Amino acid sequence: MKILSIETSCDESAISIVEAFGGLKNPEFKVVSSALHSQIEMHKEFGGVYPSLAKREHSRNLVPLLKEVLSGENGDYTKISEDKGRKIQKILEREPRLLELFQEAVPNLKKPNIDYIAVTVGPGLEPALWVGINFAKALSVAWNVPVIPSDHMEGHIASVLSGNKEKIDFPAVALLVSGGHTDLYEIKKWGEYKRLGGTRDDAVGEAFDKVARLLGLGYPGGPEISKLAEKSRSREPHHEEKWKMPRPMLNSDDLDFSFSGIKTHVLYLVRDMSNLSPENKESIAREFEDAVIEVLVQKTKKALEETSAKTLIVAGGVTANKELRKQMKKISKILGVPSLLPPQELSTDNSTMIALASFLKLNYSKQKFEVNPDLEAQGNLEL
Ligand code: KG4
Ligand code: ZN
Repeated sequence: MKILSIETSCDESAISIVEAFGGLKNPEFKVVSSALHSQIEMHKEFGGVYPSLAKREHSRNLVPLLKEVLSGENGDYTKISEDKGRKIQKILEREPRLLELFQEAVPNLKKPNIDYIAVTVGPGLEPALWVGINFAKALSVAWNVPVIPSDHMEGHIASVLSGNKEKIDFPAVALLVSGGHTDLYEIKKWGEYKRLGGTRDDAVGEAFDKVARLLGLGYPGGPEISKLAEKSRSREPHHEEKWKMPRPMLNSDDLDFSFSGIKTHVLYLVRDMSNLSPENKESIAREFEDAVIEVLVQKTKKALEETSAKTLIVAGGVTANKELRKQMKKISKILGVPSLLPPQELSTDNSTMIALASFLKLNYSKQKFEVNPDLEAQGNLEL
């Protein structure tokens, strides 16, 4: 089965075509083609993501990305009747630039041999999500293909199915760490997610981004902080006590997190320092990373023990962090619970993971998926 998937929940516009085999017990995937446009360079200028700018960029980028992923197709050209043309016009009326590009390009593209279109409906920035949803609906009409609405976080979870040979035994525990989320879930089986706990304030990726800004580093902050932290580790194996930062909620009775305190700690530290030398920045970055990871590992360990989980899944943009990957692998080994993390390139937002999640949904849900369904962006969608 082939799925074309679309992701526009934040600052990456992405489209993939993925071939899926097997069922829920042994899903296997082959990425046929995949294209991604990151808006990071643009958002860098503003130090963060602005929803209206993200929306505009998605509108500009989706059609070029579609051309790229369809370049290997050799079916018939897409025929758009007058009736379909009117429907498409209505669907894309709030995205005039996208409509223009669509009308210009799609009739000249080969209709791909796909069974479904998958699209992220949430969580994320609603103006950005709408662009992907309307694009999916317009393509659904043009090609007469049903749409699977997908959850971005389920996408992150499913990202571990790529490149990992290891089988997932249930119950599993998933730690999701991204720019908007820090959550622990128990997965009893595919489609059954129980939230065990999560952050009470900032998401961990958000904390990385905010601390990076305090240190005068670029956006997104995660990769910048981790670069500096690594420099500090190679400079001095043992870190001086004086940099010690708090580990909020490390020993609390629940599976919740709080990261805004560490961020405030850094704020005061930076404010009270007359000289923020490169070495000082590296030390702060390292201690911040260590503090955050220690709490993440400790709470994940607690979740694994409380649920007697047989598999650990760690997913979301922050799993691009090498030290986090290393520490999670270490605890998984100590506890004897196999761990799955996404391959580096599927850690941060992408559309391949949306195809994988939609394939799972197709298999576990009793839902019937329709051509041109009524869909809405759900900014706060919960698993
Ligand atoms: O999953 P993602 O791409 O987007 C959301 O769904 O939010 O995650 C983005 C987050 C950003 O906050 C970014 O700073 C963080 O992931 N991130 C990292 C690293 N690479 C990306 N955090 C720590 N270390 C990294 N190497
Ligand atoms: Zn994400």
